[in-house]
Amino acid sequence: MRVLGIETTCDETAAAVVALRPGGGGEILSNEIYSQIAEHAPFGGVVPEIAARAHVERLDGLVRAALQKANVRLADLDGIAAAAGPGLIGGVMVGLTAGKTLALVARKPFVAVNHLEAHALTARMTDNIEFPYLLLLVSGGHTQLVAVRGVNDYLRIGSTVDDAVGEAFDKVAKLLGLPYPGGPQVELRAHQGDGARFALPRPMHGRPTPDFSLSGLKTAVRLAAERISPLSNTDVDDLCASFQAAIVDVIEDRCRAGLRVFREKVGYPSALVVAGGVAANDAIRRGLSRFASGAGLKLITPPPALCTDNGAMIAWTGIERQLLGLTDGFDFAPRPRWPLDQNPDRAHHGKA
Ligand code: KG4
Ligand code: ZN
Repeated sequence: MRVLGIETTCDETAAAVVALRPGGGGEILSNEIYSQIAEHAPFGGVVPEIAARAHVERLDGLVRAALQKANVRLADLDGIAAAAGPGLIGGVMVGLTAGKTLALVARKPFVAVNHLEAHALTARMTDNIEFPYLLLLVSGGHTQLVAVRGVNDYLRIGSTVDDAVGEAFDKVAKLLGLPYPGGPQVELRAHQGDGARFALPRPMHGRPTPDFSLSGLKTAVRLAAERISPLSNTDVDDLCASFQAAIVDVIEDRCRAGLRVFREKVGYPSALVVAGGVAANDAIRRGLSRFASGAGLKLITPPPALCTDNGAMIAWTGIERQLLGLTDGFDFAPRPRWPLDQNPDRAHHGKA
């Protein structure tokens, strides 16, 4: 089974072809991506109108390249999948319409993919792991702990009440005068800084509900910076290191709470899976690996290129859903908001 996947929900335009391996898991035949970071950087964040336009300009070429590199024709595919949300509406419309059109013309089954479900299922493509597992999704737009019980069967057990973790990194970078996107910059500066110099809060610490709150931490960084301004390079390094140390503690503590809730409500997870752009952070990876080994859990961190937005995860989700007969009609509308654990109207389209 080979499926084309299309991703256009944020600032990455991507197309990929993935094949189902005989024993399970996916083989990525091609994974084409155009990152729009350079186009948004002058504005310090993603500009929806620029993103939509760039998707229009780039998507055709990426789909063509993805098919070529996979050495398949449209006619050889078994299905076409496109992200239908959540995300920026202009971009979602571009990818969703392209996917539907290709499926219509080539007479292939069509799958409208929830972008969050695609992040959630990536570890099954890369590591062929069993349900259920605990997912920590940490990106610029999302911060969630999810019990992944099966395809189309998710229980969100925690999320952020204010900023996403990546968003907090980006905002801290901005207030310290570092370029966008801030996450990698903060990590770089933290490397040479003193993480114990500033006593920053660990919001939600010890709370049994596995939610996150990060805006207070970001404010604490701002206040600490204002107190010692003007900032020297060393001050910036130390602020970055102290902030990152706080985030590592917060993530570990929230995962501990998440695991407890998981065991109460779902049972024993086969693994802790981390996804989203923030999973590229080495200090966070090390913190999670410490936590997982302490808890006797297998930790799965897909390679960074599959943690951030990509087409392969959309194609893989298309495969997983098609195997269950969960295909969609061409009337499927884009969904700017689409929580993982709310699929009230999906049963209409699916056969399973
Ligand atoms: O998943 P992603 O590529 O896009 C979405 O938000 O969907 O994640 C991007 C986010 C940005 O906020 C970026 O600053 C953050 O991930 N990020 C990092 C690192 N690399 C990317 N945060 C901390 N450390 C990093 N090394
Ligand atoms: Zn994403």
